[in-house]
Amino acid sequence: MKFTFVTLFENLIRPYFEDSILKRALQSGLIEIEFFNPRDFTTNKHNKVDDYQVGGGAGLLLGVQPLFDTLKKIKDTHPDAYFIFPAPAGKPFKQIDAKRLALKKNIVFVNGRYEGIDERVVETFANEVFSLGDYVLTGGELASCVFSDAISRNIEGVLGNQSSLDEESFENELLEAPSFSKPAFYEGKSVPSEFLKGNHAKIANLKIEMAKLKTKYFRPDLFARKSARR
Ligand code: ADE
Repeated sequence: MKFTFVTLFENLIRPYFEDSILKRALQSGLIEIEFFNPRDFTTNKHNKVDDYQVGGGAGLLLGVQPLFDTLKKIKDTHPDAYFIFPAPAGKPFKQIDAKRLALKKNIVFVNGRYEGIDERVVETFANEVFSLGDYVLTGGELASCVFSDAISRNIEGVLGNQSSLDEESFENELLEAPSFSKPAFYEGKSVPSEFLKGNHAKIANLKIEMAKLKTKYFRPDLFARKSARR
């Protein structure tokens, strides 16, 4: 998978890939990252990339020309480009999207700054628009890091232990069951006694029941969806 980031601020994104699991994925060639800066494409003699909104409106937009030309260049040179625009007005990004998008060859994240992006650019290039949540960030970069992280761990080989994908939160619309590390007793607290007895079938059943209770308590919306499906 190649992740192409269109951003004025490469340094907000690059360090995220310089440690831990994503660093390993980069080193082993399972993922690749590259950056395009709209400032390199502006025809403005002062290198300006922002512009006022036609018809008024608070704040500046990332101007149409630099961004349009950047994306056109990417489209012309990246045959597998799949354009994702992070924006608060997008649909909520879900685990199911991370799984689906992990099968793409080249995802291009187009990161707005200022008050957003000219809508004609979105209309022309966007394959999908996703939101990180119901709040407004100063730009799309943080959302792009989050989306590319969630996508990467669903690419085969990125996680050391592939089976951890099967047990985690949002599989079957359940939050992940509580888990416990060694030692079994710590600071006066024990792990659930069933976990000490070594009956793996019983422990698995207990984990399912715990996951259901946790989901019902913390995410009644998820639990209701799960119940409605049955
Ligand atoms: N850019 C600004 N706010 C955002 C959000 N909530 N999600 C995705 N991109 C954004």
